[in-house]
Amino acid sequence: MLRIDSLRVTYGGAVQAVRGVTMEVPDGKVVAVLGSNGAGKSTLLRTISGTLSLHRGRVEEGTVRLDDVDLVRRDPGKIVRLGVVQVPEGRRIFSRLSVEENLRAGGLSSRDKAAKAKALQRVHDLFPVLKERGSQRGGLLSGGEQQMLAIGRALMTSPKLLLLDEPSLGLAPRIIGQIGEVIAEINRQGTSVLLVEQNATMALGVADLAYVLDVGEVSLSGDARELSQTDEVQRLYLGHGSETPQEERLTTGPRKTLSRWTA
Ligand SMILES: Nc1ncnc2c1ncn2[C@@H]1O[C@H](COP(=O)(O)OP(=O)(O)OP(=O)(O)O)[C@@H](O)[C@H]1O
Ligand SMILES: [Mg+2]
Repeated sequence: MLRIDSLRVTYGGAVQAVRGVTMEVPDGKVVAVLGSNGAGKSTLLRTISGTLSLHRGRVEEGTVRLDDVDLVRRDPGKIVRLGVVQVPEGRRIFSRLSVEENLRAGGLSSRDKAAKAKALQRVHDLFPVLKERGSQRGGLLSGGEQQMLAIGRALMTSPKLLLLDEPSLGLAPRIIGQIGEVIAEINRQGTSVLLVEQNATMALGVADLAYVLDVGEVSLSGDARELSQTDEVQRLYLGHGSETPQEERLTTGPRKTLSRWTA
């Protein structure tokens, strides 16, 4: 179980990106984090994966615990060895390396050959296209295939917990559907997933639990299916609320942040 407690993160000491967030990712679950641009979603994932300092960010307060281990200020490589791996926003694959080399790069942190062979088999079963196109340069894959490669590369570390930062970004609806199915399958195989998304339909469709981040704070949280039924999420994230006139929806767009949770 991953448990984040009262987490506060700043950039350059000034920008308050995460302002006292508490959340849990229970073992074996898919947890979605929704939120508009700048809500702090990527910051949250960077904090968990230990890559925050690469972005000049700093944890000011709070803990991020994987079981009994505090991950705050731990080396990113160590965090990967503890079983937590992040697929960053914008699917940064090595475009000049072949698909197979990209996957092997994902397994470099482990010396366990049998585990790596098993992980590669799993990736090929999940994404047959990565096997078919193994010798091609990564940069020649389509956007959706590159996202699959980025996820496949992360799976080469055989993680307990997979952190996904907006895997649907810039992809066509049909491909987004496939990504959702793959996330569900990865989870069925025993990997917990923390899924950061602006695409609420996909995220709430695949998640067990969900949190909504609003300017660095949790404004809503709960069972994903129940959350998707709430007026706020329907109106602001799923774009088909009853009480919002069409014109307002057009001008504010579907991604307006939710009002603060005051229960
Ligand atoms: N490297 C950085 N230096 C300074 N400020 C940053 C940095 N990265 C993010 N921020 C700021 O921190 C806040 C949270 O940003 P973050 O990238 O975590 O949001 P996000 O929810 O992932 O947004 P998006 O949906 O656009 O990816 C924003 O105000 C952003 O401008
Ligand atoms: Mg982001």
